[in-house]
Amino acid sequence: MLEDSPRPIRFVFRGQTVEVPAAEPTRSVLQWLREDARACGSKEGCAEGDCGACTVIVAELADAVQGDSRAVVRDGVALRPVNACIRFLPTLDGKALLTVEDLAGSGPDATLHPAQQALLDTHGSQCGFCTPGFAVSMAISHERHRCSGRRPGRAELADDLAGNLCRCTGYRPILDAAERMGEQPQHGLALEGLADALRALQTAPALDWPGRYHAPRRLDDLAALRVRLPEARLVAGATDVGLWVTKQLRSLGDILWLGDVAELRQMRVADGGLSIGAAVPLEDAWHALARRWPALTEMGRRFAGPPVRHAGTLVGNLANGSPIGDSAPALIALGARLRLRRGARRRELPLQDFYLDYMKNALEAGEFVEAVWIPADAAASAEGWTLRAWKISKRFDCDISAVSAGLAIRLQGDAVVEARLAFGGMAGIVKRAAAAEAAMQGQPWDEATLARAMTALDTDFSPLSDLRASAGYRRLAARGLLQRLWLETRTTNPLPADALRAFAGTH
Ligand SMILES: Cc1cc2nc3c(=O)[nH]c(=O)nc-3n(C[C@H](O)[C@H](O)[C@H](O)COP(=O)(O)OP(=O)(O)OC[C@H]3O[C@@H](n4cnc5c(N)ncnc54)[C@H](O)[C@@H]3O)c2cc1C
Ligand code: FES
Ligand code: FES
Repeated sequence: MLEDSPRPIRFVFRGQTVEVPAAEPTRSVLQWLREDARACGSKEGCAEGDCGACTVIVAELADAVQGDSRAVVRDGVALRPVNACIRFLPTLDGKALLTVEDLAGSGPDATLHPAQQALLDTHGSQCGFCTPGFAVSMAISHERHRCSGRRPGRAELADDLAGNLCRCTGYRPILDAAERMGEQPQHGLALEGLADALRALQTAPALDWPGRYHAPRRLDDLAALRVRLPEARLVAGATDVGLWVTKQLRSLGDILWLGDVAELRQMRVADGGLSIGAAVPLEDAWHALARRWPALTEMGRRFAGPPVRHAGTLVGNLANGSPIGDSAPALIALGARLRLRRGARRRELPLQDFYLDYMKNALEAGEFVEAVWIPADAAASAEGWTLRAWKISKRFDCDISAVSAGLAIRLQGDAVVEARLAFGGMAGIVKRAAAAEAAMQGQPWDEATLARAMTALDTDFSPLSDLRASAGYRRLAARGLLQRLWLETRTTNPLPADALRAFAGTH
């Protein structure tokens, strides 16, 4: 190796440390597996994180994740399912990669993993294309429930597998298999020696390929790099930007990878609120939010599938500025603020002021989002507040919203003291419905006020028609969500939160 040539990527694969020379940083883990390592068990169905045929497991030292993380932690390592098709290979540096080929041999007598055996027994595989992805997702699910000592119900197993599609089986035999594998809780993934192998990798310096890829480990280093390279593309989970590469064939230029910055992986209670760092996976972040605000639970289940939620971040979802992103409406309703950093300077901005125009945000050159902060006394945990978050899409699981809403209302007696009504899918940015809020403020929370607020939504929004929904449908849906808020929060005879879900037949 030349003296100043960039160091290779190093990760653990099939029990060995492999070295991959510095190359195109957006080469995907799936490309490396199938084309270089000739490990063709993981399949490519969609190349956009949707079908799950490429699902693999990324393992890292358990010290790197927080105690309340949703990674499966066992034998000193933390495991997460991710989509290999949109995962950039250099992001594996210092970690381990497990694929469907690593499952067999971990059962009794070096036979099939319980997930594989159960798929076989229940005819959970027909053409077989989706099977490797299902087997990996099932193995992670098996590991999670095995460690918790609890047998999950069928609905929970369906949630675990919501990131995997099958076009043949109709899912019933796959869910049968998921239930059946739970009958063998004693057998898990073989992880012996993995923690030691991972520890040995941690002594290497941070990966830094000038002009191509930088993976700082300290926040100050990231801040300095960002000022020096304001044009570099920040990448957190790559569940958005990965598709720019696989679908739009775009070059991302120089990349600043946030995933290894220890401080950004922190979630903590701070300044009377919850601070969620920019590299905290969506899965962990949403779980923490839903624990505090249970109204967010269903949105979390419907937010992509587990492999996307384990790779993608909450801050990435906020920062991408998509008008149909699911987290922004709920977090705006909660009064969230972004903590921004440029060099040594920090500033704070209410989330609602971050979005300036379609895909245009308030970040200055050299600046990045360090964390999102949600006040602990935000809507729904303080006296009189109620929060609701709803997503309207064609499919229950893993679909893009036509309309999403975060609605918070504070009542005193039967009067509306304050309302924060934030909608996605209704304009070029996620924004609050100022006219509808004004129509409610200080008014009795009755049908007449509701009718005025519903009409005012037409002043607030002129939605577009697109593939997902027509403008008229979006208008009606937004009105319907406001009406649902009223039905669930009116002072006389409010409907229980689940009543309308059952009526709509969503699950
Ligand atoms: C199959 C699939 C399903 C999905 N389903 C949903 C869904 O149901 N709802 C939904 O809302 N989204 C969904 N998404 C979109 C995506 O998963 C989310 O937007 C995700 O949260 C993005 O986070 P990330 O960390 O992967 O961002 P990245 O792809 O890494 O980055 C996204 C953008 O944010 C910028 N960025 C990232 N971090 C920072 C930072 N700290 N400071 C400044 N800029 C930053 C990047 O430069 C980039 O422009 C889905 C995506 C896929 C592939
Ligand atoms: S190939 Fe479909 S999710 Fe990766
Ligand atoms: S068995 Fe054919 S796609 Fe699932």
